[in-house]
Parts: sequence; structure tokens; C-alpha cells
Amino acid sequence: MSEQEKLRILIADDEEEIRETLREIFTEDGYEVTAADGENSVLQGIRAGSDLALIDIKLGEDNGIEVLRKIKQQFPQIPVIMITGFGTVSLAKEAFKIGAHDFLEKPLRLIQVRTSVRNALEGVMLRKQLRRNAGGVVKPVIVSESLKRIYEQAARLAYIKEPVVVNGPSGSGKDLVARFLHFEGPRAQNPFIVTNAASLPPTLAEDELFGHEKGAYTGADRLREGCFEQANGGTLFLDEIGDMDLNIQAKLLRVLETGEFKRLGSSSRMKVDVRLVCATHKDLEELVKQGKFRNDLWYRINAFVLKVPGLDKRKEDIAPLAEHFLRLMCEELGIEKKFSPAVLEELSKMEFPGNIRELKHLVARLAVYTDNVEIRVEDIPGRSGNINPVQGTVEQSESGIVDFKAAKISFERDYLRKALRASGGNITAAARAIGMAQSNLSRKLKELDIKID
Ligand SMILES: Nc1ncnc2c1ncn2[C@@H]1O[C@H](COP(=O)(O)OP(=O)(O)OP(=O)(O)O)[C@@H](O)[C@H]1O
Ligand SMILES: [Mg+2]
Repeated sequence: MSEQEKLRILIADDEEEIRETLREIFTEDGYEVTAADGENSVLQGIRAGSDLALIDIKLGEDNGIEVLRKIKQQFPQIPVIMITGFGTVSLAKEAFKIGAHDFLEKPLRLIQVRTSVRNALEGVMLRKQLRRNAGGVVKPVIVSESLKRIYEQAARLAYIKEPVVVNGPSGSGKDLVARFLHFEGPRAQNPFIVTNAASLPPTLAEDELFGHEKGAYTGADRLREGCFEQANGGTLFLDEIGDMDLNIQAKLLRVLETGEFKRLGSSSRMKVDVRLVCATHKDLEELVKQGKFRNDLWYRINAFVLKVPGLDKRKEDIAPLAEHFLRLMCEELGIEKKFSPAVLEELSKMEFPGNIRELKHLVARLAVYTDNVEIRVEDIPGRSGNINPVQGTVEQSESGIVDFKAAKISFERDYLRKALRASGGNITAAARAIGMAQSNLSRKLKELDIKID
């Protein structure tokens, strides 16, 4: 298990000796261990990231059973093992009813604690494994209070079957929330199927959602399972639901109400168990008023709406997101880059109408185009009279004098274009002629957006 993937255990007991003994044992077993001695430190520890909690029923002033109740309300996916020095059957029953994973009596036997922990973590590891296999299900960066709230709500909603609408401006992270709803819940082992309602004309949309029998129409030469069938037992993520055709909306409503549908060309109904998550950047209530979204469908899906705010409403997320994306880029490209503190400050002040996606693209460009290890404010396109290597525009200062960097780039562009022309567009020949390594020349051409024709 790599350092990064260590599973995290929280141990809460008001007896320091037990806490420390357990800490030692589990640290030695390769887990990352946090200790807590009361309700506040337990909830804090779990919020900071724990995969499992071991909690004594007696926690000083606090009651471990109440702490268990709070954990199960706020973080239902975390298994909790209760420990008690005075076990009674009714206490154990109560703990299990609230959702405890196991109930251990003191004096603790090492083998018993280890087995219980291992069992509890099995499900956690499986979920993590699946998340990795699902590819690209990234752990979201969550700093702002507003996003924390969204993900806390999502953690609870992951455990119920009701439809959820994820609403928010373009690029704000709706997709990530939808995946979280699936992969943090009990359906994680089952399929997560995505379809986009905006991209399909009505006839194809029906086929996409419900599938067809062989011979259902000309050209239907084999049976096709629709998204509902594919998502059976799992989640169907319907993106851009605000753009769905009204007739298809009616059909969707029927499936939500009955859990049944027919493949095109079939006479029998199929029953499926599918959890629906929808996303849209549009205001569905407004669409209902305009008659573009069915009232009855809206009422069927609007019990749980998660509103993901745009970056303009949570500027404190910008710097940590930028650092997160830079880290990912560096890992991917095998390079080393860092932001100067001023860059993070500058980014935090900037507007990103395309939200997180726009920020991600900007960071990618900075990682690729900046020559130095440290990325400075001047490297941000459009900032302090610099050059935008992507568009290739040179900005002049008020005095009309182009700054040195811009002039240098302008010269380089002319020079390299000439060199390329002289060698008939052959990069190898051009590199040799001007005494530059071919890889450097290629990188430079890309950076300066010089196309070879
Ligand atoms: N909290 C976050 N932490 C890390 N990365 C994030 C976070 N939120 C979004 N992203 C990343 O930002 C990009 C855009 O997010 P996403 O695709 O979820 O947005 P969206 O709201 O679905 O956009 P659209 O409206 O265009 O469909 C993705 O690459 C996503 O992984
Ligand atoms: Mg999306």
C-alpha cells in the first residue's frame, strides 16, 4: 500500500492508555491513525478524512451512542465500531439499530479488534478500488463553506434512491457531484451510466433511454439495451435535463413513477431499479413557467436539488483548485512547476465565467508554456502587459513601447518562421540550420503557436 493510499482510522476513547495502545497497534499495521477524546474532536477528525471510526461508548462528558448517531447522520458511509466497558444486550441492539458496524466489549482482545477493523474496511477498500477503476473519479477539492455543504448533503443523498437534481453554471463541478452521489453510496459496485439529453433528437433519445428490440424499425438489426436497462441496480446520470424534449420528459416521468418501461418494439414491460441523477445549468423552475419543462416531472424530481455555486461565489476555492490542477499536470507531464504566492493571489481575484473548467485550462496552459519552474504573475495571459502565447497577441504599454519579453517573443516568432521557410518546413533541417535541438524547436513552435505549412 503506498503512503498516499493508507487507510485512516479514528480512535476515540477517553482512556488515554487504550487510545495510545490502539494507536500504536494500528500504526504498526500500516494505517494512519487519529485519536480523539470527545464528540467535537471525533466529528472534526471524520470531517478531515477518516475511513473508519472506533468509538468508546463512554467519552468523558459525551455519550458515544449520540456521537454514533451524529456520524451516521452526517457521514453514513463511514463504518463505526463501538467499544464498551459495560456491554448490555440492549445497548448493543441500540448501537446496531443506529448503524454501528460492530460492538466490542472490553477488555479488548487484539485478534478480535483486528478482525473487526479488517471486516469493516473491506467495503471501504472495495469502494476505493471501484472508484479508481471507474477512471477519472477524482477526489474533489473542497475548501469553501458553500461547497462543503453541498458535499455533506451529497454524502447523505448517496444513500437514498430519490432522484437528485444537480444545478449550477457551466463548468462548476456538477458532473463531479453526480459521480460522488454514485460512488460514495451502496450502488458504487453497480453501473454508473451517463447520457446527455441535449445531444439527442427525440426519436434517438427514446432509443437511447429505453433501447429497442431486434427489428423494431428499419435498421434495428439487433437488440439494443437502453440506458435504463444498462443502469439497473446503479445510477443513471441524465446530463442537461433542461434540454430534454417534452415528450421524452413524459416517458421519463412514467418510468420514475412505475420503475417500468418498454423497449421500442416490445410488448412487455421491464422493471428496473435505477437511481436517477440529473444535471442542468438552466433554471428548471423558470423553464416550467415557460412551458419548456413539464410541471409534473419537476415535482417528481425537485425534492433534492443541489445547487453548485459558480467560482465567483467561492473565490476561496480558486487557489487550492489551481494548486491541485498544477499538481495533476506536473504528474502527467513529469515536470516540476510551482506558483509564486502572488500568482495564487492574482488568480483568486480573477473572473472565471467558465468556472472550474476554465481555471483548469488556464493552469494547464501555464504549466505547459511557462519556461521557469516558478510560474509568476507575468506568465498569466493578459496580465501586466505580457504576451499571450496562445493567441500570439502582443499587448503594448501606454507609452507605445512593447516590453522586453513581448519584443523577444515577436523576434523569435519572425526568426523561426524564416528558418522554417528556408528549410521547406522541415523541422529537423531547420533545427540543424539554426543550431537548436529538435525537441526544443518543436516545443518553441508550439509555445509560439507557429503552424508548419
Ligand atoms: N471540487 C473540485 N475539485 C477538483 N476538480 C473539480 C472540482 N469541481 C470540478 N472539478 C473539475 O473541473 C472540471 C469541470 O467540472 P464538471 O465537468 O464537473 O463541471 P460541470 O458543472 O458538469 O460542467 P458542464 O456544465 O459544462 O457540464 C472537471 O474536470 C472536474 O473534474
Ligand atoms: Mg457536466
